[in-house]
Amino acid sequence: MFKQTDAIHGSEFFDEKTGAFIVPIFQSSIFEMERDKGTARKSDRGKDLKYSREENPTVRALERVVAKIEGGGDALAFSSGMAAISTVFMAFLDDKSEVLVAKEVYGTTMQLALNLRKFGVRVKIAGPDTEQIVESVARETRIVFVETLTNPTLRVLNVPEIAKACRDNDALLIVDNTFVTPVLYRPLKDGAPLVVHSATKYLAGHNDVIAGVVIGDNDIISNVLWDWRRMLGCILSPFDAFLVLRGLKTLELRVRRHCENAMAIAEFLNDHPKVVEVLYPGLPENKYHEVARKLFANNMYGGVVSFKIKGAKNEVLKFMKTLKVIRVSPSLGGPESVLTYPIVSGASTMPPNIREELGITENLLRLSVGLENVDDLIEDLERALSSI
Ligand SMILES: Cc1ncc(COP(=O)(O)O)c(C=O)c1O
Repeated sequence: MFKQTDAIHGSEFFDEKTGAFIVPIFQSSIFEMERDKGTARKSDRGKDLKYSREENPTVRALERVVAKIEGGGDALAFSSGMAAISTVFMAFLDDKSEVLVAKEVYGTTMQLALNLRKFGVRVKIAGPDTEQIVESVARETRIVFVETLTNPTLRVLNVPEIAKACRDNDALLIVDNTFVTPVLYRPLKDGAPLVVHSATKYLAGHNDVIAGVVIGDNDIISNVLWDWRRMLGCILSPFDAFLVLRGLKTLELRVRRHCENAMAIAEFLNDHPKVVEVLYPGLPENKYHEVARKLFANNMYGGVVSFKIKGAKNEVLKFMKTLKVIRVSPSLGGPESVLTYPIVSGASTMPPNIREELGITENLLRLSVGLENVDDLIEDLERALSSI
């Protein structure tokens, strides 16, 4: 079970000398060796503490918290979500392997996977739903990469079923849990060996830092991925680790409010004559409602709502221009509500046939619902919808 206490106290940091309450920013690239032994001091997981591309106490504190809240043995923090994902790919793929990527994943993850072909990696795309992914996992599959809640059409994948198919075929399942957060769902307990996050989103939660994390068992993290991060040089900076640590102290509060606001907005949009379709797994009629209700905690369904308005690109542009409170930008998971136009943003790099199959149309919008008063957001949406 996710525990906010872990998000607040999980760093287990205590400085005997000062009694400092908050983990300091260890803005030091190097650490002094123990002169009597000629060796480096060790971090709590036995790694040399000598150079901040390898190990840093502020980053380490964040990793302890993240491992606890996702229920893993250990974690690593990276300079971005993409740095985390590319490090995992680099560590586990070679010219004989096949990677299976779910049809609907973050555009840059898909691009990265497709570009691995130049190293001889075979890339299989399967989905968009659980059944097709499960059917496509084969003996030769080395890695399966999925997102718990897909973007932008908000399909919910049945992670336990995918994890079983991966176990049966000796494939390593990687679950991107960015959209869901451990507050709603923890894939590790359902048999996924590795979880990644763009911590840029809900984990940090304030639209002021780019960061990524990977969580798994001690062996994978400490003996495999730690070295790849060191070689690739993509560790998170101490200052950014401090910001993510601070964000995590309010994770549950924020996620609850995001979800409450999102539910109210999904219901408002669902009843609006200028809205053709609302894609939100919290709505009882949504195709993914049952699986979401089963997997996600406390009737929470995420802070993102996608919807299709009446019309096409012209109407979308008018709608976006009229918004006053909701801002237009690519990211999600922060206090500010942010609207994204997928065909020109995240889905712009997606092959057109896949875009069409997924239903990413010219009138589709994705709203990352923020922490504002929901009445203000609804008023803003009403005004913008009236303008089209
Ligand atoms: C689901 C998901 N995974 C990974 C990423 C990449 O993370 P970052 O932008 O922190 O590199 C994103 C970014 O939007 C994302 O939405």
